[in-house]
Formats: sequence, structure tokens, C-alpha cells
Amino acid sequence: MTPPLIRVVKQVQRKSLQCPVLNWFSTDNSALRKGPDCKEESKWLCGSSQEILSAVRGQVKVKQNFISEEEESAIFKEVEPGLRKKRYEFDHWDDAIHGYRETERLQWGVMCESILRRVRVAAFPEGSPLLGPIHVLDLDKEGYIKPHIDSVKFCGSTIAGLSLLSDSIMRLVPENNSTDWVDLLLSRRSLYILRDDARFKFTHEILKDEDSFFSGHKIPRHRRISVICRNLPV
Ligand code: OGA
Ligand code: MN
Repeated sequence: MTPPLIRVVKQVQRKSLQCPVLNWFSTDNSALRKGPDCKEESKWLCGSSQEILSAVRGQVKVKQNFISEEEESAIFKEVEPGLRKKRYEFDHWDDAIHGYRETERLQWGVMCESILRRVRVAAFPEGSPLLGPIHVLDLDKEGYIKPHIDSVKFCGSTIAGLSLLSDSIMRLVPENNSTDWVDLLLSRRSLYILRDDARFKFTHEILKDEDSFFSGHKIPRHRRISVICRNLPV
């Protein structure tokens, strides 16, 4: 098996952040002036300043309800038997991920393959070569992902992930400035896409349940499975 990408990520340690919350919609009606896209974005994007939101604009996207409940169960049924054989890993202090088990999958059933085709079309530039196996990550309710940047050696410009079973918060922080931040609300059955600077110059993390808030609203974190597609470096 290829080395898991999560073990070759770069980890960044920092203290937790408490900052004002902004989104496109909440500040001086700017969302209304900026049009319907901003209003839609405010449902899943907020951050510590307008500047930081501008910096990631066009490089982060969350498509809510990208898959149906039926499609979510189809994926779950396909990955659960393999995951169930493994134990959640909790105690490796140097892991980027706490409370997880994972697998990779190359071959998928018909319904899952068609979902993944939709993910590829939505997320990746046409013709961009993809990393063959799809990464499936199962986070326990107590699990979380620490700030890290995915391996630049093994993965390319774009990371796209489906979220199953639970809502969660993905936080992005500029690698060189740990006071600014951007939060993405990854709702259950959504697809997120990170590309370019948002993927290379920002760390990303999945918050633990106790820190899981979006625009001040509690977002309970249950067990969560993500299905992550990546492209190859050019
Ligand atoms: C990773 C990662 C995010 C997710 O495995 O490198 O950042 O959605 N996962 O699970
Ligand atoms: Mn990652």
C-alpha cells in the first residue's frame, strides 16, 4: 500500500484562536452589493477579516447537498466493512490526525463510481491526472485533524472531499500568519474543494467537537467519514 498521505503532511502547532467572526453577508451589507454568490457563500464561509476572505476567494468552495441521502448510504455501505476491521488510532502524539481509521479504495461500485465522476468534474481541471486510490478517513466523535498541509511531493493543486455522517468545521490558517483564519462549514453530504494557495499556503484542520462552532453557532461533531480525492503534482 502506498504511504498514507496523512503521515507525510507537514504539521503546524499553534494555540487555539479566538477572533471576531466575519462573513461576506454580515459586514455592511457588502454581500448584497457583491451579489448572490456572496450570500450563498456566507452559509459556509466565514473568517477573521475581509482581507483573508478575499485571499481565499475562488480557491475554496463548499457545495452543500452534493450527494443525496441515498448516495451517502451507498458510499457508507461500501466503505464500512473495511473500516470496521480496523481500530481507531488515538495515541500517536505525532500524528496529524487524532482518533481515526482510514483506508484507500481503487475500485468502486456503480453508484459510487458515478458520484466520484461528478466529484472529478466539479473539482479538477479537465485532464488533470488524479491520484489513483481514493482516501477514506473515518474520524471518531472524539477525533480531529490538526493543522497541516498535505504533502506537496505526493499531491497536486487540488483537494476535494465528501463529508458523510456529520457536519464539521474545516479551519484554514495562513501558514505565515497564525492570527487570521477562515472557517468552512462542511455540512453533511457536502463536497469541499481546496485549491492553489488555499491548499499550499494555508494549513487546514478539522475542529474537535468542543471547538466546533460556525459564526458563533455550535456545530455538533459526530463520527464523520470523508472521501478525499487528490490530483498528482505536475
Ligand atoms: C487529510 C485531510 C480532511 C477531511 O486527510 O489530509 O485534511 O475532510 N482530511 O477529512
Ligand atoms: Mn489534509
